[in-house]
Amino acid sequence: MMISCLVLVLLPVFISGCCPPKSWTGKNFANYASGQVHLEILQDVYYDHGMMTVYQNLTATDGTLSKQTVYLNYQTGIQYAVTGDGRCDNSSIIFTGVGEDCVPENSTVSKSYIGVGANKIPTTMYRMIGNGFLTYLSVIDDGCIPLMYETTGTLPSGDGLKLTVEYFGIMVVKPDAKIMKMPAICVSRYFLSENCH
Ligand SMILES: *[C@@H]1O[C@H](CO)[C@@H](O)[C@H](O)[C@H]1NC(C)=O
Ligand SMILES: *[C@@H]1O[C@H](CO)[C@@H](O)[C@H](O)[C@H]1NC(C)=O
Ligand SMILES: *[C@@H]1O[C@H](CO)[C@@H](O)[C@H](O)[C@H]1NC(C)=O
Repeated sequence: MMISCLVLVLLPVFISGCCPPKSWTGKNFANYASGQVHLEILQDVYYDHGMMTVYQNLTATDGTLSKQTVYLNYQTGIQYAVTGDGRCDNSSIIFTGVGEDCVPENSTVSKSYIGVGANKIPTTMYRMIGNGFLTYLSVIDDGCIPLMYETTGTLPSGDGLKLTVEYFGIMVVKPDAKIMKMPAICVSRYFLSENCH
């Protein structure tokens, strides 16, 4: 089923000078459109040194709601999605970058700010191309904290894709180890796929 194959993009490749925190938590609102699939997604995100856990509620155009927990391993490039019925599906993380990588040096940079007067907060928008996707990423300069991410391109299936992610409530804290731990059902799959390399 399409939803269980959904690939998540959270952070793109970041540049030197803009490298995201090694540990953080936050909430995302994502809008995903590809072919006939259009999803509104609410996510609780936990990131720690190359591993990400995402609790997400997905709402399809027809109002169908589904829930998933996704464990992304940026070191191996594989993600594991635990669906409502308790299955664990693995797939490649399609969008490159991510995690603690810095924004690529050849990105185009637009400096801006949010707020006014003495309260202005410097921000930067990066435009980058990679993996066939054109991506815009806005961050708060202090800490390279993501604000918004928008990417367009073509999936391996040939379908066009547009994904927009808005970040809010980001905190630079180490997530609870219990949240980061993949459930046993995915761990066995992890060892299977490792042994197949
Ligand atoms: C998903 O929905 C449940 C209620 O069904 C709610 O408790 C939870 O906070 C939601 N998760 C996100 C990430 O919004
Ligand atoms: C998913 O896991 C299976 C083993 O259960 C493995 O054969 C397959 O290569 C894995 N797929 C990916 C994309 O890692
Ligand atoms: C930057 O470099 C990558 C690979 O090194 C390349 O694919 C991309 O087209 C380049 N340009 C931009 C604007 O990202």
